[in-house]
Amino acid sequence: MSVLAGKELRIVGFLCNWCSYGGADTAGTARAVQPTDLRIIRVPCSGRVNPLFVLKALINGADGVLVSGCHPRDCHYSAGNYYARRRLELLKEFLPVIGINPDRFEYTWVSASEGQRWKDVVTNFTNRIHALGPAPRWEDVPARYDRPEELIESIRPLGCGEHPALPELKQAIKDALAEGLEGVLGWKMSFDAIHAEPVFMTTPEEVDSLIWGPFNVHNLAVYLPKYKGRKIGVVVKGCDSKGVVELLAENLISREEVKIFGMGCNGTVSLPRILAKLPEGAKIESCVGRGNKLTVTAGGQAYEMTMAEVAQDKCRLCTKPNAVLSDVFAGTPTTEPAAPADGRLPGLRFLDSLSLEERMGYWKGQMERCIACHACRGACPMCVCRDYCVAESRDPHWMTQEDSVREKLYFQTIHALHLAGRCTGCGECQRACPVGIPILALRQQIGRAVSQLFDGYKAGMDPEAVPPLLGYELEEKNIHEREWK
Ligand code: FES
Repeated sequence: MSVLAGKELRIVGFLCNWCSYGGADTAGTARAVQPTDLRIIRVPCSGRVNPLFVLKALINGADGVLVSGCHPRDCHYSAGNYYARRRLELLKEFLPVIGINPDRFEYTWVSASEGQRWKDVVTNFTNRIHALGPAPRWEDVPARYDRPEELIESIRPLGCGEHPALPELKQAIKDALAEGLEGVLGWKMSFDAIHAEPVFMTTPEEVDSLIWGPFNVHNLAVYLPKYKGRKIGVVVKGCDSKGVVELLAENLISREEVKIFGMGCNGTVSLPRILAKLPEGAKIESCVGRGNKLTVTAGGQAYEMTMAEVAQDKCRLCTKPNAVLSDVFAGTPTTEPAAPADGRLPGLRFLDSLSLEERMGYWKGQMERCIACHACRGACPMCVCRDYCVAESRDPHWMTQEDSVREKLYFQTIHALHLAGRCTGCGECQRACPVGIPILALRQQIGRAVSQLFDGYKAGMDPEAVPPLLGYELEEKNIHEREWK
């Protein structure tokens, strides 16, 4: 056994070959005394460091991770470190939401001639990790299964009555089909009175089956990339339209090929909240919506509930009930409320109130229920590389088939990080989850960090906008180099 066994911690270093690796070499050549905890992985550029490398190391038990590249303006490939800076800063903001202390991760710049700086960096970082001690293990953290059901107050009136402009919308779709549109994506009622399903309408009869109201829960933007190259239409709520806008911003669909039909939205329901009000297993016979009240008849008995009781959280806080972008807008737009000043996001508010260890325990408890069905991925309009998803890739082998909390949480963090600066907050991932895991909070944390780092940027608002992680600034306004002395 090594004499250092028990004294060293597991620190992983990703070092750019052209500068920091040379800096470490310079320190070694000068015989500078340094801690020995760091295990170095040489990478061609800091831009090659996928934040998932760092996450994988930390989730799997590394006590600390250090990334070091060339100084800004010195990257061998011009801009690799500028891209890395944005991604790694965002990662640092993300780590606490899953209970990992952000101090366990750092990134910096060291040139090949800076042996002394390398010594300072590695010594200070190692001391910091020793002060924190070994990272808590997922196995040792007590799982938490609680999260109080919090019915946040709506910032706007919610309704479930028949929309007066529905005939106008149907007529506009029929006209568009007659003019040569191949089909239009919408919703129709499904196997009972509270479940709707997507429909691709190609005939006037199918258009007559179109519904609009509290059960239009699906975000139909998810289907658009599959129809690329075909001229089709899509009916959107305000939140769905942000998905369409983001797909346009990323050139995943073409504006000329998609006709957007919008109508003012008065909120949609959370089906689990409705089902919780009905006797278990009761057959649903009918559902009538009037004003803000739903009457569901199930098992021969009528149950009354208000939209305030059963609406989705995202609808309560929605400030964009009308399509952000549309070609046809039927009826009058719904009044847009101002954003709440306190930024109320129930999932995040709850997580913010927990300590880091409690957050780990919380996600451990949640992920124990995950059945890895990937429904969250299937429902996400911005999850567009399903055929090449890292969750299924065996080359590289990002994830194992192990049925463990770590692997399942790792998948969720991959999904959240892939959506950084792209997630429009439609909440489809959480709605589609068959076991009710509140995974939207992971996306919301990323969205909050993106907004703070990049001047209030919000995905899905402008088809011409460049998502923040696809660009960089030479001097970042809100990202500052940390001192190592
Ligand atoms: Fe060193 Fe890009 S080559 S950071």
